[in-house]
Amino acid sequence: METLHLKNVSYDYTTKAGKVHALRDATAVFEAGAVYAIVGRSGSGKSTLMSLMAGLDIPKDGDIFYHGENLRNMDRDKFRREHIGMIFQSYYLLPQLTAVENVELSLELAKYKGNKRARAEEMLSLVGIKREQFKKRSTQFSGGEQQRIAIARAIAADPEIILADEPTGNLDNDNSMNIVGILVDLAHKYDKCVIVITHAAEIAERADVALKMDDGVLKCDFGKEMV
Ligand SMILES: Nc1ncnc2c1ncn2[C@@H]1O[C@H](COP(=O)(O)OP(=O)(O)OP(=O)(O)O)[C@@H](O)[C@H]1O
Ligand SMILES: [Mg+2]
Repeated sequence: METLHLKNVSYDYTTKAGKVHALRDATAVFEAGAVYAIVGRSGSGKSTLMSLMAGLDIPKDGDIFYHGENLRNMDRDKFRREHIGMIFQSYYLLPQLTAVENVELSLELAKYKGNKRARAEEMLSLVGIKREQFKKRSTQFSGGEQQRIAIARAIAADPEIILADEPTGNLDNDNSMNIVGILVDLAHKYDKCVIVITHAAEIAERADVALKMDDGVLKCDFGKEMV
């Protein structure tokens, strides 16, 4: 069952110097249970694509469907709150809060109905943060740990789609592989649709499907499964 379907999606930015065609006629299908890597040079349009998939912006041309429903016609804030978990290169944890409070806050924003503390603790355990560290301030964790907390935060409200923009950009190889392992598990064990923007070839290789952005054009790459 297709989770996200992009049909002939284009996007441009209007600048003083003229139009920047960040995305040109992109068509792709993203399904649950798989990891998709999107690779491509700086400025090729990867983050633009991600913000459209998150419903932060709408295509200038073409359409994006979530389970067949056009994002144009949806309450996109609600869509994002309920179905999207986002992870970035900079973890954006709130420094004044503890690990568990950071995750709880996202549950609050997502209007999570259950026991927020218990759910936050469960998510932190899932990403390998030890119970005795739950009440430490987020700034007192290493980069790899902070990214794991950020993942716990992104997945806490059980979104169907995880969008990660360079999630390992600030991490060493061991920590990167650990993060990638978590993302692969989210797809393969928890049936999430995981879409990762990355510059790292070793991450793209662990994905089920690799897509390449080249000057706004999205293509399947590496001889992996076609989409
Ligand atoms: N807000 C904006 N206003 C004008 N142009 C923009 C804006 N955001 C991005 N662009 C331009 O659109 C193109 C695609 O940018 P985008 O951020 O999607 O690339 P990217 O592939 O994510 O790059 P990177 O790997 O450096 O993050 C670039 O030419 C960029 O300069
Ligand atoms: Mg980017």
